[in-house]
Formats: sequence, structure tokens, C-alpha cells
Amino acid sequence: MVFVGAQWGDEGKGKVVDVLSERAQAVVRFQGGHNAGHTIYVDGVKTVLHLIPSGILRPDVLCVIGGGVAVSPTDLLNEIADLERQGVRVRDRLTIAPTCPLILPLHRELDLARERRRGNDPIGTTGRGIGPAYEDKVARRAVRVAHLLDRTCLREALAEVSDYHNFLLENYYRWTPVDIGSMEAELERLASTLSPMVRDPVPELARIRTSGGSILFEGAQGTMLDLDHGTYPYVTSSNTTASAALSGAGVGMRDIDAVYGITKAYTTRVGWGPFPTELDDPVGESLARRGREAGATTGRARRCGWLDAVVLRHSVKLNGLGGLCLTKLDVLDGMEELKICVSYRHPRMRDPTIWLDPTLLSECEPIYETLSGWTEPTTGTRDFLALPESAQSYVRKVEELAGVPVVFLSTGMERKDCIQLKEIL
Ligand code: GDP
Ligand code: IMO
Ligand code: MG
Repeated sequence: MVFVGAQWGDEGKGKVVDVLSERAQAVVRFQGGHNAGHTIYVDGVKTVLHLIPSGILRPDVLCVIGGGVAVSPTDLLNEIADLERQGVRVRDRLTIAPTCPLILPLHRELDLARERRRGNDPIGTTGRGIGPAYEDKVARRAVRVAHLLDRTCLREALAEVSDYHNFLLENYYRWTPVDIGSMEAELERLASTLSPMVRDPVPELARIRTSGGSILFEGAQGTMLDLDHGTYPYVTSSNTTASAALSGAGVGMRDIDAVYGITKAYTTRVGWGPFPTELDDPVGESLARRGREAGATTGRARRCGWLDAVVLRHSVKLNGLGGLCLTKLDVLDGMEELKICVSYRHPRMRDPTIWLDPTLLSECEPIYETLSGWTEPTTGTRDFLALPESAQSYVRKVEELAGVPVVFLSTGMERKDCIQLKEIL
């Protein structure tokens, strides 16, 4: 079962996957890297995951970092150490695919240098080196997790990329080159700690499927940040849509029973690029304040706006969504009226190929349907019929506009704050 972000990321994937992993045997991350920040609250304890799948807080669940994930060894080990300090067992439950491309300090420098070079039109990346690491993968020169298992292989692979990137950094970007000796020494030091967790996840996942177990595939980022289908070039450097689960984990189509999209009850975006329903006004500020909309990875303020059903319908098609998990409904409590964007109007073009051109998309005017809000608090509600009538109508309207049912409703940050409208596991 695949769970992907249906918007621009930060929809609450971590929260939903943590809740549902109670009944799963494995949770797999299949793309992205530590640009992701997935926040989970259990009994007031906050955990922010970047690379480790959101099944890690369930002691019996196997967690897999699939080969489609770009891995920064330093950040992964820091994340493991943080979890262990919190009393979470990690090492014997985590499998890291040997085929994952590594994110090296060189990639981070390149990411920053490229953003600087774009001047007043940056992408607004997380600065984690994600794009340059995936470029190396596509160029067939990536240093991979498998290289960590053998010192000679590691040195040879590093020599090739280091030469190339340091030349680029110094001579094209006029940037300080990376000290290769210390990068190599650091990787060799980390290799021995990571090595015991490196194994091919393909047979493990196949075994779970054959024995009738459930695997949750946890997306990172969101559909509109997909490298091919998102608001290019203001996207991330991996495919965030459901099909990436197959290649990024190493499973076949028959291993996927269903795909669900996670969406907030409104919309947010971090970084730059078009965002038709963005609210640059007190309503937007109020959503940001009540939704605590600051990035889990970079701490940047998230841009906020009304729910965009055009985006949701696009997500349904791109991912083959069978349903939606709607989060942060409680953030809308106390708002007098609510709006949902049902279509776009462009000043010049009748049917703009909207998703292909960021300028066209940013020129679109959202057409809204207005709904009445509710005054009663919904935080922590665990029964759909106990929700205020207007809140129930809001959910039903989302279903009608998206064309798929809402299967899961989240009414607060805590693990227990949710309503499962349909048994999906
Ligand atoms: P992810 O990247 O998709 O996992 O989402 P993030 O963790 O980056 O951002 C979602 C934020 O919303 C986190 O801080 C969650 O704790 C919080 N959250 C998730 N679901 C709910 C909800 O239903 N209500 C409220 N108030 N907060 C929620
Ligand atoms: P989760 O998994 C929201 C955005 C960045 C930037 C663009 C490219 O927590 O939902 P990158 O560093 O990936 O090259 O940046 O993608 N971005 C995210 N936005 N949530 C994320 O992850 C994101 N990961 C990347 O802000 O606009
Ligand atoms: Mg996030």
C-alpha cells in the first residue's frame, strides 16, 4: 500500500504512516532524502524523521530505506543516534539498500552554489545536496551505499566524483572546494557503523508479501514536487508519485494493493514556485500560526493557502489514488467561512497546459466555492458523527471535488487524534 503526498509536501505523511504501521510488517521509504521531515507525536513526545521510515516507533515493524533514496551517511547516523537516545531500537530493524546513491559534502556545496548562481530566482531547495546527488546517479558516477563495504571501491568511486565536482565548484562556481581527504576519512569512519544494516531489501520484501504481510510504502515530498509532473523547475529531484515506489523499493506492480494520497485540509508550500491558492493576508497568517507551519527540516516558514481541489484531482490521476487521508482538519476550527478552489481561470488562455509552465500557473486565478466554517473545537475528535455538521460537510465536499473517498481523517498532532473512515489495512 503506497502513501504519497498529494500536494507540495508536509501533508502529514509521517503521522498517517505511524498510525497505520500498527498493523503492518514493514515500512519502506522509496525516494527523496533528508530533505524530508516527517513529524510524529506520541504521548507528547515529538519525533522528527528525515530518512528513517515512519514505522520505526512500532517495535515489530521492519524499516527499509529502498534504493531510490539518496542517503547522507552522516545525517543517517545522526538520526539513528537521536532515536536511540529516545530509547528507540533501530539498528536491528533497519535495512539500507546497497544501491542507494550517497549524498556527499560535495553535493551540499553544489546545491548551495547553484542556488546562489540562480540569483533572484532560486528554487528554494532545502540545501541538503539532493539534486546534485541524483544527478550523479543519472550520470552513472554515483558513490553508492555498497561502496562503503569495501575501502578500495570507496576510494576509487570517491576519486572520480571528487575530481569532477571540485573542478566545477572552483572553476565554474568560484566556490571553496571540498577537502577530499577529510571527506574520505569521515566516510571510512561511518562505514563500519552502517555496514551491518546494509542488505538487499528485495528478498525481505518478497518474503513478507508471500506470507501475506502488509508493507507500507512511505512517500516523501508531494505530487506537485515530482520531478516530471510537478511545477517544474520548482520541484525536487526525484519522482514523488506512486510509481516510484516500485523502482525505489524493488517490488512489482502486483505488490501494490492500493495507493492513498495525503492532503491537508488546506494547502502549504515551502520554497519557491507557483501556488495559485496562496493567501498573503491575515487568513494565510492565521493558518500558518494555528497549523504551526514551519518546515520540519529547515525551519523555514511555509506559505499557506486554501485547499486546491484542482491539485487534488491532478494527484488522483497521477497516482491512481483510491482515497485520501485528510489531515489538520482541526486547524480550520473557528474560521467563519472556508474556501476550496474548484478551478482556475487564466487571463488569456482558455485551456492552458497549466502544469507545464510555472508562469502560466502563477497567472491563474483560483475560482472558489465557499463553505461555512464551524466554531466548536474538533481537536482530538475520534468519531466522524461527533464532528460539527459543517466539518462533516467540508469532508464530504473534498470527496466530491477530488472524486475519491476520504478514508482517514486526522484531527490533531497526536497519534490517537484520528478517525479511520474505512478499513484499509
Ligand atoms: P510530512 O512531511 O508529510 O510527514 O509532514 P510534516 O511532519 O512535515 O508536517 C505536518 C505537521 O503537521 C507536523 O508537525 C505534524 O505533527 C502536524 N500534524 C499532522 N497531522 C495533524 C493534524 O491533524 N492536526 C494538527 N494540528 N497537526 C497535525
Ligand atoms: P516532506 O517529505 C516540503 C521542496 C523544497 C524546494 C524543493 C526542492 O517533509 O514532505 P530539494 O532540497 O528537494 O532539492 O528542494 O522541494 N521540498 C519539500 N517541501 N516537504 C518536503 O519533504 C520537501 N522536500 C523538498 O522546499 O521547494
Ligand atoms: Mg515534512
